[in-house]
Amino acid sequence: MPDPLADFMEEIRTSRKYEALQLPGDLLRDLLTRELDAGFSLKEARKQARRKLHMIVAPYLGDPDYAQATRQLEGAFASGGPAALKEVCVQLLGTHASTRERLPYLEQFYAALFAVTGRPFSILDLACGLNPLAFPWMNLPLSTRYFAYDIHRPRVDLINQYFQLQGLEPLAEQRDVLAGPSSQYADVAFFFKEAHRLEQRQRGGNHALWQGVRARWLVVSLPSVSLGGHHNLLERQHRLMYGVLRGLPWPVTELVIGSEMVFCIEKSDETKT
Ligand SMILES: C[S@@+](CC[C@H](N)C(=O)[O-])C[C@H]1O[C@@H](n2cnc3c(N)ncnc32)[C@H](O)[C@@H]1O
Repeated sequence: MPDPLADFMEEIRTSRKYEALQLPGDLLRDLLTRELDAGFSLKEARKQARRKLHMIVAPYLGDPDYAQATRQLEGAFASGGPAALKEVCVQLLGTHASTRERLPYLEQFYAALFAVTGRPFSILDLACGLNPLAFPWMNLPLSTRYFAYDIHRPRVDLINQYFQLQGLEPLAEQRDVLAGPSSQYADVAFFFKEAHRLEQRQRGGNHALWQGVRARWLVVSLPSVSLGGHHNLLERQHRLMYGVLRGLPWPVTELVIGSEMVFCIEKSDETKT
């Protein structure tokens, strides 16, 4: 008997576009089964699932050469100084649009955020991209437990290599935060520049994710301008945020830092146990 799910997973995993990413099975399963459950034919469901996968992986946002990036980080640590490390991190953060846009105000970004949440002992970075490489600007001690999740295997491996070189625990994991949420607790959870995409993948997905996140503070950010810089998104992003938060009792502190809107949500009902 042909298994449409296994066929789809095999096709994606062996495709030239996605082969190196070793995407998690629960992500691919979730994408196809939701389209089939919505009543699409198998052909149309595969097409829709592929379309969503392109938007989720977003290869157009950019990537470093991962093998070279590892060597650059090793070189920076071997040469010793914090300035050399920051220089390499800036180069690598600049290869992906989300972190590139944050570069001009990196230090200010984390100072403003932690002024609201307090300095965390533990962090969950959901759909982290390359953001953990901004750790040198967070002014946090090496005892910080930094859990970082992304679906993209080479990105996750690079982050763990960086964490180890830096002297942090290698707590990055390949994980679909929607289809395979973690039960890990942290003082602060970051969910940066992904909520608007998640809503496109699955309407209502943010509501479920945010409720499930085990953190005292959930910090969600959204871009205030479109990728090309032509459209002001402030109103649209407010609508998205407060739509997701409707009926939830958590107080919100809003910040605007550079081209990023930051919503610090105090999930006061979350405890460590
Ligand atoms: C727009 S980038 C944002 C990166 C980072 N949060 C930042 O702002 O610098 C989205 C990242 O989320 C990852 N991603 C998308 N959907 C995900 C999911 N469901 N679970 C985990 N990672 C996801 C992508 O691989 C990509 O690295």
